[in-house]
Amino acid sequence: MATTTETSTQYALGYSNSEHDRLIRQANRIAPTTERLFREAGIRPGHRVLDLGSGMGDVAMLVAKLVGPSGEVVGIERDANSIARARERVAAAGLTNVSFTQSDVNQIVSDKPFDAAVGRFILMFLPDPASVLRSLLKLIRPGGAIAFQEPTWIPFLASSARLPLWSKVLGSIHETFLRSGVNPEMGPDLFKMFQEVGLPAPSMRMEALLGSDAEFTGLITDLIGSLQPLAQQHNVSLEALGDFGTLAQRVQAEVTTSKTVVSFVPIVGVWARKAE
Ligand SMILES: C[S@@+](CC[C@H](N)C(=O)[O-])C[C@H]1O[C@@H](n2cnc3c(N)ncnc32)[C@H](O)[C@@H]1O
Repeated sequence: MATTTETSTQYALGYSNSEHDRLIRQANRIAPTTERLFREAGIRPGHRVLDLGSGMGDVAMLVAKLVGPSGEVVGIERDANSIARARERVAAAGLTNVSFTQSDVNQIVSDKPFDAAVGRFILMFLPDPASVLRSLLKLIRPGGAIAFQEPTWIPFLASSARLPLWSKVLGSIHETFLRSGVNPEMGPDLFKMFQEVGLPAPSMRMEALLGSDAEFTGLITDLIGSLQPLAQQHNVSLEALGDFGTLAQRVQAEVTTSKTVVSFVPIVGVWARKAE
């Protein structure tokens, strides 16, 4: 598998250790929804699967278990440090059917076709996701599956309305995404985009985990922490959130006092099959 050189566009969430730890905690929570989607999309033992924007390797490792030792997963990630950590985790898990290639997702080259291409929380960060989907189609065999999980923030924002601080945190993240070119509605937008690139109308589902514990709310308060530099760069004021040092505790206190659950970002699962 060969790759060309990477392009350098900024990645919104950055590459701090704390963001990488957050991604792993997030992956643990949402793994069952991801696995359900991939099973429904027909990923099975023996398949050769491409994972776009593999980050810490969680999606690649999940797929590795579905395809088994006779299958193979190739993760595409442009950040070398992320790949190093993902490789360590794959080795620690004893998986021998996962490899990672350092490349921009726009520039994947492979001489062998894949049975499926997957990705989670990657298309939302790309300036031209349709062109990436078009290139992907050339890498998949006829009848192969394309399956992505991407967010929809509109119901997330609506569901936060009764909790003022939680709502402000979500509003700040959303505004930072919008101003920096990240698409918070990438999930539902894939209905049109799949068809524009020549795929059939995709099967779609939306899942939103609910929770109230500190690790759960921390996935979002830590996300605004990762986005802080980008928010500043795009003049998104975070003053209304108060002291960042105590933000997680104040959000958790609000949730606990309200005796309710909050939602994690609703995840839209989207899949379709390339024509035979
Ligand atoms: C939000 S993380 C998701 C990681 C993983 N898919 C998961 O769900 O746990 C997005 C990852 O995509 C990578 N990424 C973003 N833009 C990319 C691009 N143009 N080419 C390759 N990787 C990219 C980032 O470096 C980051 O590791």
